[in-house]
Amino acid sequence: MPVTVKSFAKINLGLRIGPLRPDGFHELLTVYQTIGLHDVLRISLQRGAGIEIQCADPRVPRDESNTCFRIAEKVMTALGAKGRVIIEIEKRLPVQGGLGGASANAVATLLGVERALRRPMPAAERLRIATEVGSDLPLFFIGGTILGVGRGEQVFPLPDFPAMSCVVVTPEIGVSTPRAFAEWDRRSEPSKLTALSGSDRMNELSRELSAWLSELYSSAPSGSMARRGRAGNPLLALVRAGIENDFEEVVFPEYPKLGQAKRALVHAGAKYASLSGSGSTLYGLFASRQASSLAVARLRKAGWAARMTSTLTRAAYWRGVYGN
Ligand code: C5P
Repeated sequence: MPVTVKSFAKINLGLRIGPLRPDGFHELLTVYQTIGLHDVLRISLQRGAGIEIQCADPRVPRDESNTCFRIAEKVMTALGAKGRVIIEIEKRLPVQGGLGGASANAVATLLGVERALRRPMPAAERLRIATEVGSDLPLFFIGGTILGVGRGEQVFPLPDFPAMSCVVVTPEIGVSTPRAFAEWDRRSEPSKLTALSGSDRMNELSRELSAWLSELYSSAPSGSMARRGRAGNPLLALVRAGIENDFEEVVFPEYPKLGQAKRALVHAGAKYASLSGSGSTLYGLFASRQASSLAVARLRKAGWAARMTSTLTRAAYWRGVYGN
C-alpha cells in the first residue's frame, strides 16, 4: 500500500528582496501562508534500487531535475535504506506558478518515504536535506503562517490565524524564479543611489511586521487570536499595513497579463491582491466565502482561470497532510 501525502501550496503575504549574497542567493524577508490547494503524492517502496517518478502531466520532469527525485535520493542515503522508491504525483497545482508546488512535493516525498520506512528523521536532519534541495522547502515542515528570512529557508511559525477566504488566479505562464531575481538585480543597479537599498526595503517590511504583531498582542489576551472580533481577521490587518511583493516590479512589465489579473481580483472585490512568489499565480484575500465565490464567478466570466480556496491554519495543514 502506498503512503498518500497531500502537498499543500503556499502564498507570500509580502516579499522583500534584499542584497545579493556572495553565495548567489538574495536575502529575503517574507510571510508564507499555506492554502488549501494541493497536489497528491503516493509513495511506495519496492525491491530493487533507484527512484521512479510517475506523473500524467508532461511538464513535470521524471529525472534528477525533479525536486522529489533529489530529495528521495538524499533521504534514502541519510537513512542508509535500500529499495526502489516509486513517487506518483497527481498534479493539480500549476508548474512554476509561485505557489511552491515543486517544493511542497519534495517535502511530501520526504514525509512519505519516512512513513513508508517507518523511520522518522530528527527535525535538524530533515531541515538540512530540505535546504539543500531549495529555499522554500522548510516552510512546509511548519505550515500555517510563517516568517521566512535568510534566503527564505530560515522559518519561524507566526501565530495560527483563523482561515480566510482566498481566490487564486493561475494564468498559463511559467515564470522562472532565477530569471526574475536576475532582472531585479539588473533593474536595481542604476537606481542604487536614489532608491531604497535592498536592506532598507527589508527593514521597512520588518518594521511593518513588528508593528502588526505587537498590535495584535497588545489588544488580544494570549490565546484569543481566533476570537478577535472588532479588528477583523489578523491577516487583513497585516495586508492593510501596506505589504508588497517586490517581484511585481519585474514580473508585471514582462508579463502585462499578470498585472491585469491583479487588477481583475481587486475589481472583483478582493481586500488585498498580490503576485505569489515570482508568479505567475495571483491571489486575492476576501472578507467572506460568499464574496470569494461571487468573485470566482465574475473572474471566470471574464476568462480568468480562478479557483476558490482558503488559507490553512497550522492545525488544518497537518490534519490535511496525512488525511483523506
Ligand atoms: O533555492 P531555490 O532552488 O528555490 O532557488 C532557485 C534560484 O533562485 C537560485 O539558484 C537563485 O538563483 C535564486 N534565488 C535567489 N535568492 C533566494 C532564493 C532563490 O537568488 N533567496
